[in-house]
Amino acid sequence: MSAEGGHRVAVIPGDGAGPEVIAEARKAVDALDLDIEWDVLAWGSDRYHAEGAMMPPDALDVVRAHDAVLLGAVGDPSVPDHVTLWGLLLPLRQGLDLWANVRPARLLDGIPSPLAGSPPIDMLFVRENTEGEYAGVGGRAHGGLELEVALETSVFTRGGVRRVLDYAFARAQQRRGAVVSATKSNASRFGYVLWDEVAEEVAAAHPDIRYERVLVDALAARLVRDPLSVDVVVASNLFGDILTDLAAALHGGMGMAASASLAPSSTTPGLFEPVHGSAPDIAGRGIANPVGAIWSAVLMLESLGEAEAAARLMGALEAVCRSGPRTVDVGGTASTSEVGDAVARAAADA
Ligand code: NAD
Ligand code: IPM
Ligand code: MN
Repeated sequence: MSAEGGHRVAVIPGDGAGPEVIAEARKAVDALDLDIEWDVLAWGSDRYHAEGAMMPPDALDVVRAHDAVLLGAVGDPSVPDHVTLWGLLLPLRQGLDLWANVRPARLLDGIPSPLAGSPPIDMLFVRENTEGEYAGVGGRAHGGLELEVALETSVFTRGGVRRVLDYAFARAQQRRGAVVSATKSNASRFGYVLWDEVAEEVAAAHPDIRYERVLVDALAARLVRDPLSVDVVVASNLFGDILTDLAAALHGGMGMAASASLAPSSTTPGLFEPVHGSAPDIAGRGIANPVGAIWSAVLMLESLGEAEAAARLMGALEAVCRSGPRTVDVGGTASTSEVGDAVARAAADA
């Protein structure tokens, strides 16, 4: 729902380092002088302690009344992680049917690489985001007994798999034209085998795209050994989760990685969030890297149709990574807000 040519963005700063990096993402977007109205939603672990729930019961309706959501991170050592994540992030992704989680992994100039020779890194991960290993289907019985059982059931549907594969192939068409589909269909005989079958069908419909099926364990090694051989990776929810932390490490670490949870071709607001979590080990010290959060805001601007502003902000982010200031995790000495200030200045001057 756009406010007269402008955009209404819900902000969930969340827990730990989330609010610190989100403040910088807002600052950077504000420097672009767009017509954006921010609604801050105080959802997260503090709300859980005060009111017994991470978000209000009408959370999905609240979010649907916006054009996008910018989220920091959730998770606090005082609440079990499955309670916080199943109280906020996962119900938003599932409840809004944000089925594609898109994560660019690109090594920016000036950012130290852990790989010898610092090879270029430029990949795009398209992660299935609502089903698979995160379907939430399962249960426990016979609590406390030796025969206690816990079941966690992966759910793969033909439609769910097809839409994310279709989307990955479409994204590859705008890039280097190659898709790697990652599964584990040697050990798992059902869900990933269905995935592979659908991938073959989608690949057959895109003869212009180089398609490879790669077992996820082999792909993990290949991302390190030969990252340039990979363009778009499409993977299930859990495999995409794990591979994108590996990819983040390749392009500078958790603080550098951006993410968008989307329902492509719909009007559903997307959820834009850095890949990293609430980083309790560094939260509150003003040293978290805000680049992943600011880059997520770039993805948000793209989805809001603000292509020119998105390009301007990405240019500012690249300029600051190239010449500094940078935070400690990427070899600098600057604070979170010094980096945010520099990006905002560069964006305003561009
Ligand atoms: P994490 O991403 O929070 O931290 C992993 C490592 O990366 C830590 O050493 C941390 O200091 C570092 N790091 C993270 N963000 C950084 C930044 N911006 N700048 C510099 N360094 C950064 O992952 P974790 O420790 O496994 O999880 C912490 C909590 O966050 C848990 O409660 C987890 O469930 C939650 N989590 C939430 C989200 C989310 O809300 N999107 C994502 C991942 C984890
Ligand atoms: C991410 C996070 C989440 C995920 C967790 C916090 C549930 O790790 O966005 O990568 O696994 O999707
Ligand atoms: Mn993750």
